[in-house]
Amino acid sequence: MWPINNGKERIHQPNKSKMLSRQEIKAIESWISQMGPFQFYKTVIQNVSTARKTLKFKYKMVGHGFNRVVFDLNNGYILKIALSEVGLISTANEAYIYNNCNEEVKKYLCPVKEYGTGWIIMKKMDINMPRAIMEYPKLIKLELKFLKYGIIPIDLRLANVGFTENDEMVVIDYGLFTKDLNSPVLRWLV
Ligand SMILES: Nc1ncnc2c1ncn2[C@@H]1O[C@H](COP(=O)(O)OP(=O)(O)O)[C@@H](O)[C@H]1O
Ligand SMILES: [Mg+2]
Repeated sequence: MWPINNGKERIHQPNKSKMLSRQEIKAIESWISQMGPFQFYKTVIQNVSTARKTLKFKYKMVGHGFNRVVFDLNNGYILKIALSEVGLISTANEAYIYNNCNEEVKKYLCPVKEYGTGWIIMKKMDINMPRAIMEYPKLIKLELKFLKYGIIPIDLRLANVGFTENDEMVVIDYGLFTKDLNSPVLRWLV
Protein backbone atom coordinates (compact mmCIF):
# COMPACT_ATOMS: atom_id res chain seq x y z
CA MET A 1 0.00 0.00 0.00
CA TRP A 2 1.49 3.33 -0.97
CA PRO A 3 1.13 6.46 1.13
CA ILE A 4 -0.41 9.77 0.05
CA ASN A 5 0.50 12.82 2.13
CA ASN A 6 0.95 11.57 5.70
CA GLY A 7 0.98 7.88 4.95
CA LYS A 8 -0.73 4.75 6.16
CA GLU A 9 -1.74 5.87 9.64
CA ARG A 10 -4.39 8.15 8.16
CA ILE A 11 -6.13 5.29 6.38
CA HIS A 12 -7.30 3.60 9.58
CA GLN A 13 -10.04 5.70 11.09
CA PRO A 14 -12.50 4.86 13.86
CA ASN A 15 -15.78 3.61 12.42
CA LYS A 16 -18.24 5.84 14.25
CA SER A 17 -21.30 7.23 12.52
CA LYS A 18 -24.44 9.15 13.31
CA MET A 19 -25.92 8.30 9.91
CA LEU A 20 -25.16 4.59 9.59
CA SER A 21 -26.47 1.86 11.88
CA ARG A 22 -24.16 -0.45 13.84
CA GLN A 23 -25.18 -3.24 11.47
CA GLU A 24 -24.28 -1.17 8.40
CA ILE A 25 -20.87 -0.29 9.89
CA LYS A 26 -20.30 -4.02 10.60
CA ALA A 27 -21.20 -4.85 6.97
CA ILE A 28 -18.67 -2.26 5.73
CA GLU A 29 -15.98 -3.63 8.08
CA SER A 30 -16.67 -7.14 6.86
CA TRP A 31 -16.41 -6.08 3.19
CA ILE A 32 -13.19 -4.07 3.75
CA SER A 33 -11.55 -6.98 5.57
CA GLN A 34 -12.32 -9.41 2.74
CA MET A 35 -11.77 -6.90 -0.10
CA GLY A 36 -8.16 -8.00 -0.57
CA PRO A 37 -5.52 -6.47 -2.82
CA PHE A 38 -6.15 -5.18 -6.32
CA GLN A 39 -6.43 -8.13 -8.70
CA PHE A 40 -6.05 -7.59 -12.41
CA TYR A 41 -8.22 -10.56 -13.34
CA LYS A 42 -11.20 -9.14 -11.47
CA THR A 43 -13.21 -6.59 -13.39
CA VAL A 44 -14.66 -3.52 -11.70
CA ILE A 45 -18.14 -4.92 -12.39
CA GLN A 46 -17.26 -8.14 -10.54
CA ASN A 47 -15.91 -6.11 -7.62
CA VAL A 48 -19.03 -3.93 -7.44
CA SER A 49 -21.23 -7.01 -7.53
CA THR A 50 -19.31 -8.80 -4.72
CA ALA A 51 -19.31 -5.62 -2.62
CA ARG A 52 -23.09 -5.22 -3.00
CA LYS A 53 -23.71 -8.88 -2.12
CA THR A 54 -21.57 -8.59 1.00
CA LEU A 55 -22.98 -5.23 2.09
CA LYS A 56 -26.65 -6.12 1.48
CA PHE A 57 -27.61 -2.44 1.76
CA LYS A 58 -31.16 -1.22 1.31
CA TYR A 59 -29.77 1.90 -0.39
CA LYS A 60 -29.87 2.51 -4.11
CA MET A 61 -26.49 2.49 -5.86
CA VAL A 62 -25.97 5.85 -7.61
CA GLY A 63 -22.72 5.05 -9.32
CA HIS A 64 -19.25 3.64 -9.11
CA GLY A 65 -15.79 4.35 -10.43
CA PHE A 66 -12.77 2.04 -10.56
CA ASN A 67 -12.21 2.37 -6.82
CA ARG A 68 -15.45 3.11 -4.98
CA VAL A 69 -19.11 2.11 -5.07
CA VAL A 70 -21.55 4.90 -4.16
CA PHE A 71 -24.97 4.65 -2.44
CA ASP A 72 -27.72 7.23 -1.96
CA LEU A 73 -28.58 7.56 1.76
CA ASN A 74 -31.85 9.31 0.82
CA ASN A 75 -31.21 12.21 3.15
CA GLY A 76 -29.20 14.50 0.87
CA TYR A 77 -26.00 12.50 1.40
CA ILE A 78 -24.19 9.70 -0.39
CA LEU A 79 -21.96 6.94 0.97
CA LYS A 80 -18.81 5.89 -0.87
CA ILE A 81 -17.26 2.52 -0.08
CA ALA A 82 -13.83 1.33 -1.21
CA LEU A 83 -13.59 -1.42 -3.82
CA SER A 84 -9.81 -1.62 -3.77
CA GLU A 85 -6.73 -0.46 -1.88
CA VAL A 86 -6.70 2.69 -4.00
CA GLY A 87 -10.30 3.23 -2.89
CA LEU A 88 -9.24 2.83 0.72
CA ILE A 89 -6.55 5.45 0.28
CA SER A 90 -8.86 7.73 -1.73
CA THR A 91 -11.51 7.92 1.00
CA ALA A 92 -8.88 8.73 3.65
CA ASN A 93 -7.29 11.24 1.31
CA GLU A 94 -10.59 13.03 0.64
CA ALA A 95 -11.20 13.44 4.37
CA TYR A 96 -7.63 14.74 4.79
CA ILE A 97 -7.76 17.18 1.86
CA TYR A 98 -11.20 18.48 2.87
CA ASN A 99 -10.08 19.12 6.46
CA ASN A 100 -6.67 20.54 5.58
CA CYS A 101 -7.17 22.87 2.64
CA ASN A 102 -7.54 26.61 2.27
CA GLU A 103 -11.10 27.94 2.63
CA GLU A 104 -10.76 29.41 -0.89
CA VAL A 105 -10.70 25.93 -2.42
CA LYS A 106 -12.83 24.14 0.18
CA LYS A 107 -15.94 25.66 -1.38
CA TYR A 108 -15.18 23.76 -4.60
CA LEU A 109 -14.91 20.40 -2.84
CA CYS A 110 -17.98 18.28 -2.18
CA PRO A 111 -18.48 18.57 1.61
CA VAL A 112 -17.51 15.59 3.76
CA LYS A 113 -19.92 14.70 6.57
CA GLU A 114 -18.44 11.55 8.16
CA TYR A 115 -15.77 8.99 7.37
CA GLY A 116 -14.10 5.83 8.64
CA THR A 117 -11.82 3.10 7.28
CA GLY A 118 -12.76 2.60 3.63
CA TRP A 119 -15.94 4.71 3.68
CA ILE A 120 -16.94 8.35 3.48
CA ILE A 121 -20.25 10.22 3.55
CA MET A 122 -20.50 13.32 1.36
CA LYS A 123 -23.25 15.67 0.28
CA LYS A 124 -25.23 14.45 -2.70
CA MET A 125 -24.59 16.61 -5.76
CA ASP A 126 -26.40 16.95 -9.05
CA ILE A 127 -24.53 14.83 -11.58
CA ASN A 128 -25.10 16.32 -14.98
CA MET A 129 -22.63 15.31 -17.66
CA PRO A 130 -24.03 17.43 -20.56
CA ARG A 131 -23.83 20.43 -18.28
CA ALA A 132 -20.32 19.56 -17.12
CA ILE A 133 -19.27 19.37 -20.79
CA MET A 134 -20.86 22.78 -21.51
CA GLU A 135 -19.07 24.28 -18.53
CA TYR A 136 -15.69 22.74 -19.27
CA PRO A 137 -13.88 26.13 -19.07
CA LYS A 138 -14.93 26.26 -15.40
CA LEU A 139 -13.15 22.99 -14.79
CA ILE A 140 -9.92 24.43 -16.20
CA LYS A 141 -10.30 27.45 -13.90
CA LEU A 142 -10.87 25.11 -10.96
CA GLU A 143 -7.71 23.22 -11.82
CA LEU A 144 -5.69 26.44 -11.67
CA LYS A 145 -7.34 27.44 -8.41
CA PHE A 146 -6.30 24.18 -6.72
CA LEU A 147 -2.75 24.59 -8.00
CA LYS A 148 -2.66 28.16 -6.67
CA TYR A 149 -3.45 26.84 -3.19
CA GLY A 150 -0.87 24.05 -3.28
CA ILE A 151 -3.08 21.15 -4.28
CA ILE A 152 -2.28 19.07 -7.37
CA PRO A 153 -5.72 18.03 -8.68
CA ILE A 154 -4.85 14.58 -10.01
CA ASP A 155 -7.72 12.95 -11.96
CA LEU A 156 -9.83 16.13 -12.07
CA ARG A 157 -12.11 15.46 -15.03
CA LEU A 158 -15.72 15.74 -16.17
CA ALA A 159 -16.83 12.49 -14.51
CA ASN A 160 -15.53 13.73 -11.18
CA VAL A 161 -17.50 16.97 -10.90
CA GLY A 162 -21.08 17.74 -9.89
CA PHE A 163 -23.22 20.79 -9.20
CA THR A 164 -24.60 22.28 -5.96
CA GLU A 165 -28.19 23.50 -5.56
CA ASN A 166 -26.75 26.98 -6.23
CA ASP A 167 -25.38 25.75 -9.56
CA GLU A 168 -21.74 25.85 -8.48
CA MET A 169 -19.39 23.28 -9.99
CA VAL A 170 -17.77 21.15 -7.25
CA VAL A 171 -15.38 18.21 -7.29
CA ILE A 172 -17.06 15.00 -6.11
CA ASP A 173 -14.00 12.75 -6.46
CA TYR A 174 -10.79 14.23 -5.07
CA GLY A 175 -9.42 10.95 -3.78
CA LEU A 176 -6.15 11.35 -5.70
CA PHE A 177 -5.61 15.07 -5.07
CA THR A 178 -2.35 15.68 -3.28
CA LYS A 179 -0.33 18.42 -1.63
CA ASP A 180 2.76 16.30 -2.02
CA LEU A 181 5.02 16.81 -5.06
CA ASN A 182 6.56 13.43 -4.25
CA SER A 183 3.19 11.67 -4.40
CA PRO A 184 3.56 8.17 -5.92
CA VAL A 185 0.51 8.89 -8.10
CA LEU A 186 2.41 11.79 -9.71
CA ARG A 187 5.39 9.52 -10.27
CA TRP A 188 3.16 7.06 -12.11
CA LEU A 189 1.64 9.72 -14.32
CA VAL A 190 4.62 11.82 -15.31
N1 LIG B 1 -21.27 13.55 -4.03
C1 LIG B 1 -21.85 12.82 -4.97
N2 LIG B 1 -23.14 13.09 -5.34
C2 LIG B 1 -23.75 12.35 -6.31
N3 LIG B 1 -23.16 11.31 -6.96
C3 LIG B 1 -21.88 11.00 -6.64
C4 LIG B 1 -21.17 11.73 -5.62
N4 LIG B 1 -19.94 11.18 -5.51
C5 LIG B 1 -19.87 10.19 -6.40
N5 LIG B 1 -21.03 10.07 -7.09
C6 LIG B 1 -21.32 9.11 -8.20
O1 LIG B 1 -20.55 7.94 -8.03
C7 LIG B 1 -19.58 7.81 -9.09
C8 LIG B 1 -18.28 7.23 -8.54
O2 LIG B 1 -17.77 8.06 -7.50
P1 LIG B 1 -16.22 8.44 -7.43
O3 LIG B 1 -15.98 9.17 -6.18
O4 LIG B 1 -15.84 9.13 -8.69
O5 LIG B 1 -15.56 6.98 -7.35
P2 LIG B 1 -14.11 6.49 -7.86
O6 LIG B 1 -13.12 6.93 -6.84
O7 LIG B 1 -14.24 4.99 -7.93
O8 LIG B 1 -13.87 7.11 -9.21
C9 LIG B 1 -19.45 9.22 -9.68
O9 LIG B 1 -19.01 9.19 -11.02
C10 LIG B 1 -20.89 9.73 -9.54
O10 LIG B 1 -21.71 9.21 -10.56
MG1 LIG C 1 -14.16 9.00 -9.97
